[in-house]
Amino acid sequence: MTDSPTIAVLGGTGDLGGGLAWQLAQAGYTVIIGSRALEKAETAAAALAERAGKHVRGLANPDAAAAADLVIMTVPFASHKPTLESVRAAVQGKIFVDATVPLVPPKVMRVQMPQGGSAARESQDLLGENVRVVSAFQNVAADHLNADDAYLDQCDVLVCGNDPEARETVVRLSEELGMCAWHAGPVDNAAVAESLTSVLIFMNKRYKFPGAGIKIMAGKAA
Ligand SMILES: NC(=O)c1ccc[n+]([C@@H]2O[C@H](COP(=O)([O-])OP(=O)(O)OC[C@H]3O[C@@H](n4cnc5c(N)ncnc54)[C@H](OP(=O)(O)O)[C@@H]3O)[C@@H](O)[C@H]2O)c1
Repeated sequence: MTDSPTIAVLGGTGDLGGGLAWQLAQAGYTVIIGSRALEKAETAAAALAERAGKHVRGLANPDAAAAADLVIMTVPFASHKPTLESVRAAVQGKIFVDATVPLVPPKVMRVQMPQGGSAARESQDLLGENVRVVSAFQNVAADHLNADDAYLDQCDVLVCGNDPEARETVVRLSEELGMCAWHAGPVDNAAVAESLTSVLIFMNKRYKFPGAGIKIMAGKAA
């Protein structure tokens, strides 16, 4: 991969993807907004281009994935499998970042993990071993990413995936965007980050938080 990869955000028309795309564009990355509908992608890309003051392309998801070095998927769990199927061929050999939380509306404050164990595990199974699936960003509220004056150092990111180098790429990418990111083990460990989101949504409601996140405490040396 090049030093500054072209990054496609599938579902970049939405809240989380739009926020990530905004942060990536500000950090100097070449960003492609992906959507199920080309026109919607182009509209979102034009809006981001104006906001960021740089060129942003909008493409249908499979074309966006094909044109990118690294692909980030930010779609609702209901669309997880069809979106994966639509880009399976295009992401072979690439790093594929899955931010999906397997929420089952309306009970989004209750942990309801899918049959495969986690959304990221299901991505790895469906895309195959030639795709380096890395899970990240499930515990970062979109509002923080979308803000003009984002204070992202308050947001820790658990990064899971079977390929340590791919994980490292995503840890560094997150850090470049100003977040605090951690290697958190193999793709199966994504179940923890994914399930934590329902806890955070519950806490947002219970304590009226604008967007709870997590912070890892390293602990004191003995
Ligand atoms: N929002 C957050 O704060 C947050 C934080 C952490 C993780 N997440 C996770 O990130 C993923 C995206 O969340 P989001 O809040 O960004 O979602 P969203 O805004 O509702 O949707 C993101 C995009 O997904 C596409 N999409 C595909 N199938 C869809 C469907 N059946 N219904 C609606 N949109 C569909 C849409 O793009 P096109 O129509 O252009 O294809 C939409 O713009 C979810 O898995 C969520 O749990 C969200």
